Amino acid sequence: MPAALATDRPDEAALLPAAQREALARDGFCIVEGALPPDICARYREALERVARFDEEAGWRRRYGYDGGENANHRIWNLISRDPIFCRLVEHDLALGFVRETIGWPALLSGSSANIVVRHADEEVLHCDQTYMPEPWAGPHGVNIGWCLDAFTADNGATRVAPGSHLRNRSHREGEPVPPMVAIEAPAGAMIVIDGRCWHQTGRNETDRPRAGVFNWYTLPIYLPQENWFLSLDPAIRQFGSETLLSLLGFRPQIVGRVNGLAPF
Ligand SMILES: [Fe+2]
Repeated sequence: MPAALATDRPDEAALLPAAQREALARDGFCIVEGALPPDICARYREALERVARFDEEAGWRRRYGYDGGENANHRIWNLISRDPIFCRLVEHDLALGFVRETIGWPALLSGSSANIVVRHADEEVLHCDQTYMPEPWAGPHGVNIGWCLDAFTADNGATRVAPGSHLRNRSHREGEPVPPMVAIEAPAGAMIVIDGRCWHQTGRNETDRPRAGVFNWYTLPIYLPQENWFLSLDPAIRQFGSETLLSLLGFRPQIVGRVNGLAPF
């Protein structure tokens, strides 16, 4: 079945830095600094700024329910359809190396979004990204790859995590004491990897400048994506996207998602 073979990827594990692999297993998250060169990072930042400004001016900005109070962060969903430059982050070799390492391959892209933490936006609700997946968990069912388009600092809304919380293999319970949290501080251009079981939240921005991050959430292929790509994907991506990208978006199904019992291509 050539189409299935086309969705296979070379083993990127060799690309993954050992210290980060160990940190991810131990702490539930890791940071890869310098994943994006400064000039490339600036291009993503400019593209995001353009989309964010459009949403603001056109009244397309929508409040996200898990963002705490009224002063909410600026979220942009279905980011790959807003500017195809963001497809490159989805299929970045280092990102897919960590996807393969944590949840295997094939995997699905469940969501692609930006989170721009605005001045004094309230903290996000403490959560795991795989909270909606049935417990007990035996391991990660998803992995979130974040891209720091600005430096993430403790005072500008860096994602806050509870190191080691992924090993509890369950969500935080209401009223349960919250373990010590740390801010994921990283320079612009860094990639951060968060195990789907890791307890975390967006931090509060105490500075006068917004903090922009892109988050691509990948899951095991048995779960419906959070974004309904079949309804919302820009058709140009379906037409021109790589085999890897089309596999991640569910257009190259293997076990589930078939058409009349068969793989459609
Ligand atoms: Fe999250």
